[in-house]
Amino acid sequence: MHLKDLFEAAAILACALPTTASVLAQSSKRQAESKYVFAHFMVGIVQNYTIDDWKADMNLAKDTGIDAFALNCASVDSYTPTQLALAYQAAEAVDFKVFISFDFAYWSNGDTANITQYMQTYAGHPAQMQYNNAAIVSTFVGDSFDWTPVKAGTNHSLWALPNLQDPAESSSNTQRGADGAFSWYAWPTDGGNSIIEGPMTTRWDDMFVSDLKTQSYMAPVSPWFFTHFNSKNWVFICENLPTLRWEEILSLKPSLVEIITWNDYGESHYIGPYSAAHSDDGSSQWAKGFPHDALRDLFKPYIKAYKAGESTPTIDTEELVYWYRPTPKDVTCTNDTLAAPNGRDLLTDTVFVATMLKDKATLTITSGSNAPVSVDVGAGIVTTNVTMGLGTQSFSVSRNNKTILSGAGGLKITDSCEKYNYNIYVGSATA
Ligand SMILES: *[C@@H]1O[C@H](CO)[C@@H](O)[C@H](O)[C@H]1NC(C)=O
Ligand SMILES: *[C@@H]1O[C@H](CO)[C@@H](O)[C@H](O)[C@H]1NC(C)=O
Ligand SMILES: *[C@@H]1O[C@H](CO)[C@@H](O)[C@H](O)[C@H]1NC(C)=O
Ligand SMILES: *[C@@H]1O[C@H](CO)[C@@H](O)[C@H](O)[C@H]1NC(C)=O
Ligand SMILES: *[C@@H]1O[C@H](CO)[C@@H](O)[C@H](O)[C@H]1NC(C)=O
Ligand SMILES: *[C@@H]1O[C@H](CO)[C@@H](O)[C@H](O)[C@H]1NC(C)=O
Repeated sequence: MHLKDLFEAAAILACALPTTASVLAQSSKRQAESKYVFAHFMVGIVQNYTIDDWKADMNLAKDTGIDAFALNCASVDSYTPTQLALAYQAAEAVDFKVFISFDFAYWSNGDTANITQYMQTYAGHPAQMQYNNAAIVSTFVGDSFDWTPVKAGTNHSLWALPNLQDPAESSSNTQRGADGAFSWYAWPTDGGNSIIEGPMTTRWDDMFVSDLKTQSYMAPVSPWFFTHFNSKNWVFICENLPTLRWEEILSLKPSLVEIITWNDYGESHYIGPYSAAHSDDGSSQWAKGFPHDALRDLFKPYIKAYKAGESTPTIDTEELVYWYRPTPKDVTCTNDTLAAPNGRDLLTDTVFVATMLKDKATLTITSGSNAPVSVDVGAGIVTTNVTMGLGTQSFSVSRNNKTILSGAGGLKITDSCEKYNYNIYVGSATA
């Protein structure tokens, strides 16, 4: 080796050393801050799920980039232990993860012994979702539950992420043995179930992040909300939420994300398939025949970007995802025992399209009898909306005068109905 080469090698080494060190520091930091995405799963409606039903859902979730199901469990369901065991078994078989989300609409602060027993059984299970070497456990409400005795009674570390209804409660988190918080404010609201005008903002997230200080914030992502029972009958104003919320998440970069939900048909925020094996609490009236499956295609690049710490998604497969309601908001339905849902007056009559493109193109939407609307859309995920027209909904994307994506919506928009339905029909056009 010539002297000059030696000098060059030394110079390269001198440069390389600190670079390597900083890369190492960065990668260990990134490892410590690994991002995970979960989906809320209602165990209460899958009394008769088989292990294959579980595996099918888990494989779909995995393919979307979801790491684990948060298994929402009620104390009152006799089949909770059986279905939890099946879920853990299925997750282990397909290399997926799960954790328990105790639903405190049913559990209470006096259930410490039962909750400890569940954690003792599952915290060290190979399919249990671990975070910072501790088993994640979460809740729906249950803000004031004390996790300290549960941790003391479990032979494996726990990472407790209870749902807090008020971000200010974060200040007493350590007294209750909690390690962070999960927010249920996935839709525009002034708190509780109050309905306000959209669009969704990060006002609740910002309060959680600030109040939690160094603790973990698990942010909610939801595509929609409509429910129509006699006990609860409203719609949240969240028409562009399927894309807007992810854009907020990509800039907020929370520690963890939980999608609300995989299978809550009753509140119309499912992203899983409309499974045949679930029990029907009456929500088939608005959820059956209203697929949301294409939302998983839409969420996939956002999830990938979130995990990579990127601010915008990268598109590998070009696709167009659309969503719209079956009727204009003011139509009076003729055979419903319930009134129209609260909040409907704040809605707009709009059809939405998210284009997922590698390069710019022209999107054309023909909503029923309205004239076609063409707009230029860029690469990445772009959300476009047009005024709803009655009839068939048609969508196409062209580039250099060549149609690359096209299709008709799977449902006509009509101005007559028997029962109120403000759920969305979601579909897609692929190449
Ligand atoms: C709680 O544990 C007790 C004692 O094992 C048991 O009898 C009871 O059924 C459990 N309750 C629930 C809701 O799991
Ligand atoms: C923790 O308890 C569970 C359930 O009793 C048991 O299966 C497991 O082996 C225990 N783990 C350790 C590390 O002691
Ligand atoms: C589950 O199966 C049992 C026994 O066949 C049946 O009685 C029950 O109605 C089923 N539940 C649901 C939700 O399908
Ligand atoms: C109204 O709805 C009920 C079920 O909710 C159905 O049994 C009945 O046939 C409907 N009536 C008409 C006129 O369609
Ligand atoms: C439709 O798009 C326009 C233009 O981007 C936007 O101002 C409007 O808020 C959107 N409508 C809804 C209901 O999101
Ligand atoms: C598309 O077609 C129009 C009219 O046929 C033509 O004027 C235009 O140059 C074409 N554009 C491209 C990008 O090929």
